[in-house]
Amino acid sequence: MATPELPSGTITFLFSDIEGSTRLLQELGSDYFALLQQHNAIFREVIGEYEGVEVGTEGDSFFVVFRSPLSALDAAAQTQRRLADPFFPVPVRVRIGLHTGQGQLAGGDYVGIDVHRAARIAAAGYGGQILVSDATRALVELNLPATLTLHDLGLYRLKDLARPERLFQLVVEGLPSKFPPPRSLDARPNNLPLQLTRFIGRQDQMTEIKRRILDGTRLLTLTGPGGTGKTRLAIEVAGDTLTAFEDGAWLVDLSSVMDPSLVISAIAEVLGVTPEAGHSLPEALDSSLRDKAMLLVLDNFEQVVDAGAAVERLLQAAPRLKLLVTSRTVLHRYGEQEFPVPPFDVPDPAHLPDLASLARNEAMGLFVERAIAVKPDFALTPLNASSVAEIAVRLDGLPLAIELAASRIKMLPPQAILERLGPSSTLLISRIPDAPARQRTLRGAIEWSYRLLKERERQLFEQLSVFQGGGTVVAIESICPPVPGGEALDDLACLVDSSLLREVEAEDGEPRFVMLETIRAYAAERLEDQPELYAATQRAHAMYFADFARQQWEHLTGSQREPALAAMAADIANLRGAWRHWVAEKDLDQLNKLVDSLWLFYDAQGWYHATVQVATDLLSVLSSTPSSPERAIQEVMLRTSLARALMAIHGYTQEVEEAYGRALDVFEGRPEIRQLFPVLRGLASFYNYRAEFEKGAQVGREILLLAHAEDDPSMRVDGHLVLGSSIALQRDLHGGLDHLEKAMSYFESAGFRSRRFGLGNNPGVASFTVSSLVLWMLGFPDRAGERANRAVNLAVDLGHPATLAYALFHSGFLHLWRRELGIVHDRAAQTLQVADEHDLQIWKALGKCLLGAAKTGIGRPGDGLAQIQEGLDLYHGLKTPPVFWPLILYVQAGAYARSGKAAEGLGMIEEAIAIAGSELTLLPELYLLKGQLLLALPDAGKAAAEQWLQRAFDMAKDLDARMPQLRAAVGLCRLWRDQGNAGEGSRLLRAIRETFTEGFATADLREANELLKGRS
Ligand SMILES: Nc1ncnc2c1ncn2[C@@H]1O[C@H](COP(=O)(O)OP(=O)(O)OP(=O)(O)O)[C@@H](O)[C@H]1O
Ligand SMILES: [Mg+2]
Repeated sequence: MATPELPSGTITFLFSDIEGSTRLLQELGSDYFALLQQHNAIFREVIGEYEGVEVGTEGDSFFVVFRSPLSALDAAAQTQRRLADPFFPVPVRVRIGLHTGQGQLAGGDYVGIDVHRAARIAAAGYGGQILVSDATRALVELNLPATLTLHDLGLYRLKDLARPERLFQLVVEGLPSKFPPPRSLDARPNNLPLQLTRFIGRQDQMTEIKRRILDGTRLLTLTGPGGTGKTRLAIEVAGDTLTAFEDGAWLVDLSSVMDPSLVISAIAEVLGVTPEAGHSLPEALDSSLRDKAMLLVLDNFEQVVDAGAAVERLLQAAPRLKLLVTSRTVLHRYGEQEFPVPPFDVPDPAHLPDLASLARNEAMGLFVERAIAVKPDFALTPLNASSVAEIAVRLDGLPLAIELAASRIKMLPPQAILERLGPSSTLLISRIPDAPARQRTLRGAIEWSYRLLKERERQLFEQLSVFQGGGTVVAIESICPPVPGGEALDDLACLVDSSLLREVEAEDGEPRFVMLETIRAYAAERLEDQPELYAATQRAHAMYFADFARQQWEHLTGSQREPALAAMAADIANLRGAWRHWVAEKDLDQLNKLVDSLWLFYDAQGWYHATVQVATDLLSVLSSTPSSPERAIQEVMLRTSLARALMAIHGYTQEVEEAYGRALDVFEGRPEIRQLFPVLRGLASFYNYRAEFEKGAQVGREILLLAHAEDDPSMRVDGHLVLGSSIALQRDLHGGLDHLEKAMSYFESAGFRSRRFGLGNNPGVASFTVSSLVLWMLGFPDRAGERANRAVNLAVDLGHPATLAYALFHSGFLHLWRRELGIVHDRAAQTLQVADEHDLQIWKALGKCLLGAAKTGIGRPGDGLAQIQEGLDLYHGLKTPPVFWPLILYVQAGAYARSGKAAEGLGMIEEAIAIAGSELTLLPELYLLKGQLLLALPDAGKAAAEQWLQRAFDMAKDLDARMPQLRAAVGLCRLWRDQGNAGEGSRLLRAIRETFTEGFATADLREANELLKGRS
């Protein structure tokens, strides 16, 4: 190889070497040379890329010069990036130093102080670090690429150099940036261990802790359960604040110190303090620390909390001493400040953000980093992201647990890890060799805290494992009564102090005590080892929550509904636990205490899956208990409500039809059963779904009779609603509207009463909604709009998802009639959002169709039609004839019309007309659209179009449906004018137009006016 020309003049020197190369050589033996070769190859490749000249290589160190300082910086950064590549069998950490100065050549080599300086700068750094002199910095600062920043480290006296050197660290985006202070003559003394992994997240916590340490706080205790990251955080803080402490920062590891009296000697040992003859060790330490400005990190204080007094004394003796303590419990010392260290935030697996945001989540970030360390090609992908998120959640975001789980990624994909993360998983036994002994297993970490508890506290701790999602003091006191001599509140406080329990504030402001899941699982195992105590505590828990549910029922059906719902929400996991307990015990009496409140709560949340589960469980218990008239009645109510819940989730499916069939079977020959409101209400929705409006109306009348007999105004709301909508959809718009008006006024005066096995849309919202569509048909577009808005507002206030989806969809549909496509678009999108969130199949399908329809009207026909098709595909699993079928076809045909595809639209509208009953009040609109589609076809007969428009007009007239009548008249008017018969069309249109008293801003009325003025 020809010797390259060495540049002279102002040049930038780069020195590098591998940190710990001797150790590497010893560890790897002959493999080390392969590694070295790889390292050299990377270096040479980068040197070539950035036009550097290799001056010399010695062992593992490089000496390179660059004409451009920026190229030198880039080359350094690029080298670190490539060396950070996880494909390296073992981490290779290279320190690099850069300095710009005079390149004086003598005998084919560089001489002079600047070369020397550059070499010293490199030697002051740490593996992975790039140190830059002030001279280089001045030349490149203004031209740095966005991925590189220079961090001022301050002045340092380097060996053999006369004047101090200001050093800068080149921070490369994505690479570790935290290092101990440069190895200089005056760096602050310390024994902080070098961290081999990147410190993740915790920005706000770091800032806050540093602020407190640098301000007045002298004793700051970082608390939290084992493995939450206290030690790591403390070391990070100490490193960052080191320059503020003249006498440095010292880590005192107390994890192996069991005897509080030995704490002082452990500190003295770290600081190298030994007593002189005639003095005690504490005295020696006092006098040694008296004038020192120092930070002591006392790590793992929980087992020596009794040494708190000695520590307090030290603080008094040494006024410039500060203590940063990590401990699972607080010290309870004067002047102590506590800083609880929470686990990492975890993502919500139900609503995962995009991958990039996910990767920024601390828990996910830690998992991914640790996974890459064992499996370099591991990456977060759309396929594994949700499993990784679930793992993080299952492990409560505990850094230690996440590390342990991630270390298994070499053998197991995330999904498999997830499956194995049971309560006593052996998966979490660490194989990280230098993890502290007590952290070898997560279990060990928890056991450690457990062993430090008093006997009494241990029992409470174990018993608390029967709670799910924590509990209130009242519940805890009642389920885990204190053992003699104990005081539950004191013991609870103790558990909180030792980080085994956390106190949080529930939404209603009441404090709750909760355990991290990993800790709870440990406590549960302990409890299960004591079968008697376990059974008794579980039973007490299930009993307590059954009674709790029964108490809530009164409030839920009365004026205290909202607070009662909140109370149920806070304890829902416990309530479910109690439910499962009594299902397993087949204890119908206890289940009956729970069922009504649970049911009502689920319905209020729109959690129909849970409702179905409750009904199915209870039916199975019922079937195994001897029958009685009371049981039979309960069974029927359950069966109809179950069917109705299934319908709310899946729509009208085979399964729903069968469920109704079974309920109807039980009715046979038992007229008294038709006296049950939930049964009647369930039947009403069944018939309406099947578009059997006649039968629906009959059920409505029966509900009204029942309401009359029981003088129940809230039941009247349902009766009039069922009857009114059945009639209005079938033949009689005015008659239907009368009932709907009554439903609304009863609703407004009597409100809505929750009742047993209630389900589905709020009847008030439904009344407003149906009446808005009826008002539109009758020719009152403004009142229609107002009603639809009230329906949506009311549904928003109620926060009941199914009701909200229903109101949003129908309001969108009304706006489709009003040709306000922007609003339709919004309503459809909102419908979809609610439907997706709560898995409401029907509203998903209908929402998509509506959204597609809106898009075809705002210039995106391709998109829109595809969306409608998606909606229809979703709807496919649902059996016909669902009540929405003609409606969907109508919406679809309209969308095809707007997209200039009349021929396809025609087929759809014909199908809609064929399946709609001959008395459906929507028919005029279907006829009208058919007429319009025929007109749009170039070669179809105008005569056929005219015939359909006329039919639409006539039927609308019969129904007094003035809106479709007006719309049909517009069509006819235009057609006749084109045929030279403008007079007759105008007469027809004017007559109907003059009956309108409102809605003059709507598209249809404006169009009619223009036509009449002869302008269109
Ligand atoms: N912010 C972080 N970035 C990277 N790793 C972290 C972070 N926090 C914690 N870890 C890792 O998680 C593990 C547990 O953290 P750490 O040892 O600090 O917990 P601890 O709260 O001190 O536990 P113990 O109570 O058992 O002493 C360690 O391996 C640590 O390196
Ligand atoms: Mg620790």
